[in-house]
Formats: sequence, C-alpha cells, structure tokens
Amino acid sequence: MSNLKFKNVLIIGGAGYVGSALVPSMLKKGYNVTVYDLYLYGDVFSNLEDIPNLTQVKADIRNREKLIEASKDIDAIVHLACISNDPSYELDPALGKSINYDAFFNVLEAAEKNNIKRFIYASSSSIYGIKEERDIREDASCEPLTDYSKYKLECEKELLEFGKVHEMEHVIVRPATVCGYTPRLRLDLVVNILTINALVNRKIKIFGGNQLRPNIHIKDIVRVYELLLSAPKEKINGQIFNAGYQNYSVEELAKKVKSVIGDPKIELESVPSDDIRSYHINSDKIRDVLGFEPRYTIEDAVRSLVDAYGKGLIEDGLKNPLYYNIKMMQKVNLR
Ligand SMILES: NC(=O)c1ccc[n+]([C@@H]2O[C@H](COP(=O)([O-])OP(=O)(O)OC[C@H]3O[C@@H](n4cnc5c(N)ncnc54)[C@H](O)[C@@H]3O)[C@@H](O)[C@H]2O)c1
Repeated sequence: MSNLKFKNVLIIGGAGYVGSALVPSMLKKGYNVTVYDLYLYGDVFSNLEDIPNLTQVKADIRNREKLIEASKDIDAIVHLACISNDPSYELDPALGKSINYDAFFNVLEAAEKNNIKRFIYASSSSIYGIKEERDIREDASCEPLTDYSKYKLECEKELLEFGKVHEMEHVIVRPATVCGYTPRLRLDLVVNILTINALVNRKIKIFGGNQLRPNIHIKDIVRVYELLLSAPKEKINGQIFNAGYQNYSVEELAKKVKSVIGDPKIELESVPSDDIRSYHINSDKIRDVLGFEPRYTIEDAVRSLVDAYGKGLIEDGLKNPLYYNIKMMQKVNLR
C-alpha cells in the first residue's frame, strides 16, 4: 500500500500483549514493521517469520548501540516496551527504573540520530492516580501512585521537552486498561483476570470492588495506534490523548463477566484490597480531534477469552507465568 504516511515503523516492545495484536494488523496494512523486544514472553511471531515486511530484533532497550542501529531507515517509532503493570515493580525498583525511565533516553537518542519523523509514546491512564471526580480529561492533574505511573509521567515530560527542540512529530497516548484475547495474552489485567477466574474456578474474587477502572478492547487500542500513525501532523503533534471506552467499577466488571459466561453458579466473593487505584477517564478528545470511536465492548473482550479458553488456547490460565508479568519476570530473573 503506497498511501501509508510512514511506511517503516519500529515497534519497541512489540512482542508484548498490545504488540502481538498491533504487529499483525500493521503487516496486513502494508507497513514494514521492525519489532525490537527482549521477547520476555516468547516468540509470539513464530507464525509470521516468512513474512518479508517483518524484521525482528531481540535486544534490550538498555543497549543503546543496538537500539540506534535498529532505528536506521525507520520513519516512525511506537514505544511500548516497559515493565508493565504496577505490581511488577515489587520485584526490583532499580530494574524498573532502568527500563521504564533511564532507557527512555536511549530511545530518544536513537530517534534523534536517525531523524525519526513521528514518535508515539504509550503512557497510561493510571498516571492520574486516585480521583474522586469522574470524567478525567488530559489536562487534569496527574498524581501517579506507583513507580510505574511516576516514570510514565516523567517520560511524557521528557518527550514533550524533546519535541520543543527537535523537528520530530510526537504524541502521547494514555490508554485505559486493555482487555481481550491476543496470542501473547496477559491475564494480570482486570477484565482478563476476572474472566479467567470465572472460567477456571467458577468463582470471582473481587478485590475491593468500588474502584473505577476504564477499559479498552485490544482491537480498539490497535486502531488507536494505527490512527496515531496516520493522522495529520497538526492534529497530533505535541498532543496527549486518553484512550478508553467503558468505565466501570471492579464489581460491575465482575457482574458483566458472570453474565457473559452465563453460568448462574459462578460465585462472586468480595475480598479487601490495598490496590486502591480508582479513576474514570474521559476520551472525548480523541473522538473530537481524530474521529476515534471505539467499536468493541467489554462483553466482546470476555467473549474472546471464553472462546479462546474453549479452544484450549489458554493453558493453565491461573498459574502459567506466560500470562503474568510478575511471574515471568521472576522466572527469567531479568537484571
Ligand atoms: N496493557 C494495558 O492494559 C496497558 C494500559 C495502559 C498502558 N499500557 C502500556 O502499553 C505498553 C504495552 O503494554 P503491554 O500490555 O503490551 O505490555 P507487555 O508487558 O505485554 O509488553 C511489553 C513488552 O516490552 C518488552 N520489554 C520489557 N523490557 C524490555 C527491555 N528492557 N528491552 C526490550 N524490550 C523489553 C517485553 O518483552 C514485552 O514484550 C506498555 O508501555 C504499557 O505500560 C498498557
């Protein structure tokens, strides 16, 4: 396809949950995709190895030279690499900082040295912290509660500063919590956790319950990244966009999961929790500026997981480290 604005795209952290859906979608649209990733969760693109427009680089973003090398002849970067998920930080705060903050300067340097034209940064809507009020927009104050969110915010600031002195078009997205089935699946995200527990245990433990969580279907977040790659410069440059769809409390989410699975015997049990993150985001800006309308619901996400589970595509869903960032980090003993 010749009408792509930026044909050669480097997706840093492209072998993760989001990348495993984004990369195949972009390949189908004709992009030349380079994935730069440690492949902590395995060789997710083994079925795509013969595809000529996919290049895979197994390397660490803390390796400055490799990153600069991999960014040659690239038009646009989507930066997804991260030790994701707040509790992962319980592992080793220094490791988290080295990847989620320090290495961001390597990414910016690689972008600068290779004259990257557009840069898309995956931040997180968790940077707002706990908010009493609803409909949190992009200009709301950010009160990050954890290192993960704190460094997301710091990287946003670094990127905005970088953008003031370099030509590079740059845009920040603050996604809601993603849900739904992908080949590299995460089951440590709220809708996915509730669903796998209902499927395996026929019981959903609701930790807390009143906390509000914004959600977005994996297929919609893929559409967001593709839109940010193709949008005109004047609409995205220097901008921050929330990207969420349905905001619900954890308890409401659990009820939805139960209703989609359709088994009245599924038990809902409330358990006290110290995970108090609670926020309700407003995503009107991305709709008003870029025309983005979500298409997929939480129910669709639950159905995709139920379907995959039924087909035997989710193995040992409650314990398999492949689906849990913390467990995998412990297993591979990343330093
Ligand atoms: N999934 C969500 O609900 C969600 C919500 C908001 C924001 N985000 C952000 O979107 C991005 C993608 O999320 P995800 O769910 O796909 O995460 P993920 O953990 O599934 O993927 C992250 C990828 O980064 C790679 N990686 C980690 N450390 C690396 C390093 N040092 N060098 C190279 N690669 C490394 C991992 O191997 C993995 O493939 C992340 O930045 C995340 O913070 C995700």
